[in-house]
Amino acid sequence: QAPALPGGLADYAAQATALLPPGPAAYFLRGAGAEDTCRANLRDLEAIRIWPRALAPIAGGHTRLTLLGQSLDAPMLVAPMAYLRVLDAGGEAGVAAAATAQGLGMCLSAQAGQPMEAVRDVGPACRWMQLYWQAGRAPTMALAERAARAGFTALVLTVDAPVNGIRDAEIASGFALPDGLRAVNLDGLPQPQFAPLQDRESLLFDRVAHVLPDWEDVAWFCANAPLPVLLKGILHPDDATQAVKTGAAGIIVSNHGGRVLDGAPSAIAALPGVVAQVGGAVPVLMDGGIRRGVDVFRALALGATAVLIGRPVCHGLAVAGALGVSHVLRLLRDELEVTMALAGCRTLDDITADCIQPPTLSGS
Ligand code: FNR
Repeated sequence: QAPALPGGLADYAAQATALLPPGPAAYFLRGAGAEDTCRANLRDLEAIRIWPRALAPIAGGHTRLTLLGQSLDAPMLVAPMAYLRVLDAGGEAGVAAAATAQGLGMCLSAQAGQPMEAVRDVGPACRWMQLYWQAGRAPTMALAERAARAGFTALVLTVDAPVNGIRDAEIASGFALPDGLRAVNLDGLPQPQFAPLQDRESLLFDRVAHVLPDWEDVAWFCANAPLPVLLKGILHPDDATQAVKTGAAGIIVSNHGGRVLDGAPSAIAALPGVVAQVGGAVPVLMDGGIRRGVDVFRALALGATAVLIGRPVCHGLAVAGALGVSHVLRLLRDELEVTMALAGCRTLDDITADCIQPPTLSGS
């Protein structure tokens, strides 16, 4: 007999936290520093009140949209997350199957433990490939070209983590990747070589900083990549303006789930400023703190075209593998639909700022 699945999204989170060993629990579920930004992501979403609307006609409603040519049954994609095979042997392919079952999208992490071609072959969900800037233009483009050959339809260049954040909880836990798990899609790409440190030199400023990309590199990449490029990890309105000028096909407002710059504004607080600045030129997506269907609604009310789901996917995967992820995504879809019905929204276009009380957010 199959084991019973948790009843709701909070149960998945609680069970995942309880069952994961300390190392994986810290890597997947915790954040940078004092986790101030992690908490702000949740708190600022929760602070947004949604107006119930009485007797509104909702017959014929739906949650569908087309995003950069991909049809989605609801405005959600699985966020790129590294090394998912730590949580379940099915790894990224299992998550892709779950997203396919729920008619959603998925962005594969550059640090996936399975080949991008294999994950892509699972079904129509996983069509976006995330990457970090590699050790120069040529290897970055080589990765992009491989994704295009594999049948991906968009690239997501993550720009908010030029260096890793300091994740205290993870360091304290002593987390290490299990033997045999590595970022297989980066095999064969050159890694930057650094000269040995001299006395009193800083690894970051004296060795690493000059191999990091700048806006010119990203403009070159957007102009020459074989696929549209979204920039992930934009919070400041001026960076959003620059991203559009640079040729980005979309923007993902994100603080990396509070894993990089602790003290950054919550993603939801930064969203309206980015949306205003972009003015509809390209789609603006958001991630960070989406835990319930009402949160998806809140993000759309503040101008997001769609959201990415991070930790809840980890919860589902840890508790019940691909089936758990599928169930988590289904629960999110159901909650979004019910929220829309209660707020009098038939389609995603009906979800506007008029549906919520003006938020007072910590970052605005
Ligand atoms: C991430 N995230 C991430 N982002 C990215 O661009 N490339 C990556 O490889 C990873 N890896 C990763 C691992 C883990 C364990 C987590 C939790 C997150 C960030 C991710 O895409 C997303 O921005 C956040 O997870 C969204 O926040 P929530 O939904 O987790 O609150």
